[in-house]
Amino acid sequence: MTPHDKNPGGRSPAVAVRGLVKHFGATRALDGVDLEVREGTVLGVLGPNGAGKTTLVRCLSTLLVPDAGTAVVAGYDVVRQPRQLRRTIGLTGQYASVDEKLSGWENLYMIGRLLDLPRPAARRRADEMLEHFSLTDAARRPVTQYSGGMRRRLDLAASMIGRPSVLYLDEPTTGLDPRTRNEVWDEIRRMVAEGMTVLLTTQYMEEAEQLADELTVIDRGKVIANGGVNELKARVGGRTLRIRPSDPARLPEMARAVRESGLDGIAGAAADPEKGVLQVPILADVQLTAVVGLLASHGFGIADIGTHLPSLDEVFLAITGEKATASGAFAEEAVA
Ligand SMILES: Nc1ncnc2c1ncn2[C@@H]1O[C@H](COP(=O)(O)OP(=O)(O)OP(=O)(O)O)[C@@H](O)[C@H]1O
Ligand SMILES: [Mg+2]
Repeated sequence: MTPHDKNPGGRSPAVAVRGLVKHFGATRALDGVDLEVREGTVLGVLGPNGAGKTTLVRCLSTLLVPDAGTAVVAGYDVVRQPRQLRRTIGLTGQYASVDEKLSGWENLYMIGRLLDLPRPAARRRADEMLEHFSLTDAARRPVTQYSGGMRRRLDLAASMIGRPSVLYLDEPTTGLDPRTRNEVWDEIRRMVAEGMTVLLTTQYMEEAEQLADELTVIDRGKVIANGGVNELKARVGGRTLRIRPSDPARLPEMARAVRESGLDGIAGAAADPEKGVLQVPILADVQLTAVVGLLASHGFGIADIGTHLPSLDEVFLAITGEKATASGAFAEEAVA
């Protein structure tokens, strides 16, 4: 496939990765990754610190050469056609790539020139992108004076200068406050509505839910799950029911009772001894009632109960039965 024979149905893969491997010394940062991003859709790549997300993005941007496997982006092979590939992609890295000493406008103009735009076109494009990302008023100010959200918007604008057909966003909102995060999400949605294909890495289940059509979960360089957002949520449960028993010592016994109950729509139950709670993925209120009823009928005492949207930690727990490699990275909300 070349960028010229795009499937108007938007169903052909814009990114196709097969068996991608990348070592750093003894570390297998990517250990045989397979994934696909359909044209015009957003793939969320979800994983904890050190999972291999940035390594993947760097391989797909030609910044790193993989040790094995293949990756084709917009019809171009990352190893054999790096120059063509670079012209069709945009990248917003995990760490800001703009020059702090320059103004927003100067940054965008410079990138336009680096992309071989003639001066007048580079000027026009810089103006256009600043306007698009609501930065016109701050255009002439040095980036040092920008807020975190303004910087991220400038980063996004910078990655869009060359009108990429495939955009990589590496943890675009990590470290941003909720309001700023929402602003950035809105910008990303707008870019997707304009037909862009996006590969987005994130540590946040909520971000994946907000933006992604499909998810690939990676851990230690390996894909551990993939599918539609709803499909994955169904595996984890739309929400997680958290039950704190009166007697923490009975947690394992409770988990077993729920798992072996055969209750409709209950995919699993896991004891989390650290937090002293039983976690049960549920899809509907009726299952909440059923689980509580079951525990009561077995004579288990319940001290506290609540439901939570699944966090990334809980996704890992549900999929692998163990905690994410670097679970300390996830700010877990306290159990009520
Ligand atoms: N240039 C490098 N040299 C050596 N090891 C590296 C290098 N880059 C990454 N690694 C290692 O590869 C693994 C994957 O790192 P990577 O940066 O891809 O993870 P990540 O999923 O992006 O994590 P984070 O969420 O913290 O950004 C880690 O064990 C990391 O220490
Ligand atoms: Mg990273």
